Parts: sequence; structure tokens; C-alpha cells
Amino acid sequence: MAGKFYITTPIYYVNDKPHIGHAYTTILADVLARYHRAAGEDVFYLTGLDEHGQKVQQAAEERGVDPKQHCDDMAPQFLELWEKLHIQNDDFIRTTEGRHVKVVQDILQTVYDAGDIYEDEYEGLYSVSEERFITEKEAESGDFRDIKKLKEKNYFFKMSSYQQALIEHINNNPNFIQPEHRKNEVLGFLRKPLGDLCISRPKSRLNWGIDLPFDTNYVTYVWFDALINYVTATGFRVDNDSYTKWWPVDYHLIGKDILTTHAVYWPTMLLSAKMPLPKSIFAHGWWLMGESKMSKSLGNVVDPLDLIEEYGVDPVRYYLMREMVLGQDASFTMESFIRRYNSDLANDFGNLLSRVSKLIEKNFDSVVPEPGENTDAENLIQNAAEKVVESIHKLIEEMKIHDALEETLQFIRGVNKYMEQQAPWKLVKEDKSAAGRVLYTAAEALRIGTLLLEPVMPHRTEIVLETLSVSKRELNWGGLNAGIKLKQHPPLFPRIDVKKEKIEKKEKFIDYEDVEKLGLKTAEILAVKKVEGSDKLYKLQVKMGNEERQIVSGIADHYTSEELIGKMVVVVSNLESATIRGVESKGMLLATSRKKDLSLIIVDGDKVASGKKVY
Ligand code: ME8
Ligand code: MG
Repeated sequence: MAGKFYITTPIYYVNDKPHIGHAYTTILADVLARYHRAAGEDVFYLTGLDEHGQKVQQAAEERGVDPKQHCDDMAPQFLELWEKLHIQNDDFIRTTEGRHVKVVQDILQTVYDAGDIYEDEYEGLYSVSEERFITEKEAESGDFRDIKKLKEKNYFFKMSSYQQALIEHINNNPNFIQPEHRKNEVLGFLRKPLGDLCISRPKSRLNWGIDLPFDTNYVTYVWFDALINYVTATGFRVDNDSYTKWWPVDYHLIGKDILTTHAVYWPTMLLSAKMPLPKSIFAHGWWLMGESKMSKSLGNVVDPLDLIEEYGVDPVRYYLMREMVLGQDASFTMESFIRRYNSDLANDFGNLLSRVSKLIEKNFDSVVPEPGENTDAENLIQNAAEKVVESIHKLIEEMKIHDALEETLQFIRGVNKYMEQQAPWKLVKEDKSAAGRVLYTAAEALRIGTLLLEPVMPHRTEIVLETLSVSKRELNWGGLNAGIKLKQHPPLFPRIDVKKEKIEKKEKFIDYEDVEKLGLKTAEILAVKKVEGSDKLYKLQVKMGNEERQIVSGIADHYTSEELIGKMVVVVSNLESATIRGVESKGMLLATSRKKDLSLIIVDGDKVASGKKVY
């Protein structure tokens, strides 16, 4: 399928800094883009940021900055991470850019002119605190505050008109939604009548968005805006050659959370605008830590992104690609990371390089020996190389990256075995040219294995290619030049010492005993006084069972003494006593924050007495 290949990631919300989930999809797209580039295809890899809407406006408000400023502050954090992860994207789109705003308005106008947008009044339950309409069920859940009935005029997109056409498209294009079980999920969803889509937000409620071209009292719903980025970046309406070259996209890579927006909203929007639909939408699963999705700050738990500092980018890229079966969920654990690293990278791949280079150095003055005539053993390796190249090509087309990596490693393991069987270190004493043949064969197999791993580990593989002075990147057998001198190289993947890791891990995780050591206990506040000479500090007398103590706490800005007296709070009781502003303090109160929005952890005093252990 030599030709062109257009691949996208979701554009990420800038309400928070990038996390491992964002990194995963971005690395996955990068790996696919690199495989396709290596196969000689013309590749366009797009990623970017989703900068409008409620979430972003709220995040900006929380920081007390204007939304555009907030986006400008966040964008470099994503760009820096992509650079660190060696992402080679061809474009980086931000939805606040002029080029995108124009295209969104243009498509809105087209859809409007086609008669597919109408105005309607919507009445529903609205949560003021959440600033969105909620369902009856959500209202009953008790999770929402300030619910009121709200009547609002909005614009709706006639998504329902395209339900049948979409179902037919899915049925006629088996690769449109992948993997298969996601396609079935969407078809299941489409068995019920499809509603229309509210695509506007009145500015009185939300103003951080793109103006509707036909009514400037409204901004565009963030998804109607965001999805269009995929065509904006191709040069739609600006550079028609580029647009028709790249659109329709080969793959929209997404997580399973945004399947409906991509597989239902987006294609119906395109149908209305009379534009071709994406060739494939591929939804991958979650990275989990224990039972939960990894998508925010992980507290004191190991963050895979931290592993980069310690073990390098390539091992993390390898782990993420090897460990997740595309389409299913995967669990991140430090144990599995170390296991993969030590077995695949240190023992198999790294070891092959160090053996081959050491033996060539010792017995052939570092000069790659002549291959000579193949025997059966060399023919087997050569055949295996030809087979693995073909197979990897196919597996990548089928999005089976984990299988492609496993097959490549199998091949490398096979070469290590060949080395053991042939034992060139012994052979060299009897028949030097036979030993040369074996070492050439192993080195050439290493060159091919390395090239196959290059899209996943672009930096460490460079070390191997430089050591072997590889000039030919073709995957056919015989590309390695005999007679060239090997270069020195550092250890490719130094083994991770598991014992040392355990000690370091101890520092990151704490045990149950450590929690016990804090001596968390309930305490009743008996008396409260200001600490002299301080506005922020209170001197509290608390009762913990039979014991009474004095604790100094910086909560005077947040609670009056009346509010505190009689409250049951939680105290860290096993803390060494300290003297604060000349006042003795024994323990600390648990609260949610040190400064802004501080709230004490308050216990129900009707249910529990003071001095009880807290777990
Ligand atoms: O949804 N495991 O942005 P977002 C794997 N702006 N992937 C994960 C993950 C996890 N634990 N957590 C997140 C949005 N992801 C919209 C998209 S597109 C036109 C608009 C990845 O910042 C995964 O790719 O919430 C998921 O779909 C995406 O991050 C969501 O990023
Ligand atoms: Mg999300």
C-alpha cells in the first residue's frame, strides 16, 4: 500500500497538563506514522489541542487568567512532552487558531444552508454548579447541586436525518469502525432512534467558543468545533490540492471514551456537508493502574512518565506498545515494566549487539567479516529474516503492534540461539572464515531486527545502526557491508537491578504499618484561641479520648472559633511536638489544602467518639 497515509490523535483538552493517557495515543500514532514512513509512504501525522468550551473556560477561571492566556500557557507543556517523547508530528493544531475558526464557521454555514440546522427551545433540568443540562436520572442521583428548570433557545443539527445513511456506511465499510466489538457497540447504539444534536451554547452561559456564523449570540458546541480540526489541518478551503490529497483520513486514533462523537456525530456532520467520511476510526482501550483509569495526577504512585527520566524514552515507548493489545485495556505495573525491559531489551536485543560487537572486535579487529557461503544454519536465519519483514508489514497494516513487536523479538531470540549453537568463539580457533560467516550473519540479522524496531525505539536503535555503520535501510538480506569497521557503543539497555528497584519503590509506596504510624485519630475541639501576633494561627485544645492536647493550626482565615468548637476532626497524633510562635503544638489537623479552599476533615460526632483510630 505504498502511497500516502494520514493519521490523527484526538486533540486534547487543555484543562489540565498532559498525562500518560495522552502520551499513549500520541506515541501510538507516532509509531504507526514511522512504520509507514519507513515503508516509503508519504505520511501526514496530526495532533493538537482542544481549546474551547466549558472545561477549558473553567480551568482558566480557577487559575484566574483569561481563557486564551490559559491555552497559551498550557500548549507548551504538551509540545515539550511530545518533543521529549520523540514524537514526529507533521502538524500541531490548536482550535483557537484563525485557520480553524474559519473552517468551523464555513462548515456550519454549509450545514445551515443545507437546511440541517434549526432553532428550538429546550426545556430541561439544569445544574448551575455543573453549568450543564442533566438528565432526570442524574438529578435523582443527588450528585448535583443547584438544579433548576431552564428553558433555553438553541440551535440543533439534524443528526437524525443521517441515521440510516450512517448505518449503511458502517455495514458497507467493515474497516470504518475498529476493532470489531466497537463497531458492534455503535451499531447497537444506532438501533435506537438517533436524536438531533444541540450545537450551540448561548453566550450568556458560555462564551469561550467560536461564534455561530448565523447568530452571534451563540458559540459553537465544543465537539462540533473540535472534530473539524481533522479537515482544517489538511488545508480545507485554503489549499484544495492538499485537502484532496489527505482527506479522507486513513486513521482517527481515539480512546474508547470518545467513540460516539467520532463514529456518530462526526460522520453525520460530514454527510451533511457532503464531504467524504474517514476511512477508519480506531478506538483503543484504557491504561489502568489497579482498577482505575490513569488520567490524572497519580499522587505518590509511579507515573510511567517518570520512568523516562530513569530508563529513557525508548524503553517506555516499547513497554506501552508491547504491553497493550490494541483495542483492549492494559494494566501498568512497575513489575511488568521491569520484566519487559530486562527480558526483551536487556537480555535479547541488547545482548545480541554486545555479543556480536565484542566477538568481531576480539577476533576480526572490529572489521565486519565476509559472509562467505551460507550453510543450512545461515539459510534458516536468512529465511526467518525475510519472513519476519513480510509479517511485520502485514501486522502493522492490521494495527497489531504488540504482535509485531513480539515477532521481531522472536526473531532476535532466534539469532541469539543461532549464536549459541554455532559458538563462533570456539569456531574461530579451527575455521576463521566459518566464524566470520556466523558473525556476519548475526550482525546482518541484527541490522534487520533493529530496523524493524526503529519506529518504536528511534533513539536506542540509532546506537546499533551507528555501531554497524548502516547506510542501507532496505530490509532485504545482505544490506550490511563487510569490511567496515565497527564503532564503539555504550551498553544498549543496562539491566535494571531488581533489588535496588525494590528499595527505591519502598520510598515511593508506603505500607499499612506506615499509615498506622501516623496515629490518625478523631479529636473533639474544646477551645479555640488566636496565637498572639499571628492572623492565621489558632491555638486549639482538643480531646482525644482521655487525653487532652494543644495543637497550633493555620486555619484562622477559614474558620471562626464558633464554627470550630464542638467539631470532631482528624488529628495526626504521632507527630513530634513543635513550638510555633512560642506556642507548643502536638499534632496536626487533617485538611484538604494548605491555603485556598481549605476544608477540615470533619467526622460525624454523633457516630464516633473522640480518640478513635482512623483508617
Ligand atoms: O476527549 N488510557 O480530550 P481528552 C489510554 N478533547 N488513553 C487515554 C487514557 C487512558 N487511561 N486517558 C486518556 C478529549 N486517554 C477531547 C477530544 S477530539 C476531536 C476531541 C487518551 O484530553 C485517549 O486517546 O479528554 C482519549 O480518547 C483521550 O486521551 C482523551 O483526551
Ligand atoms: Mg476526557
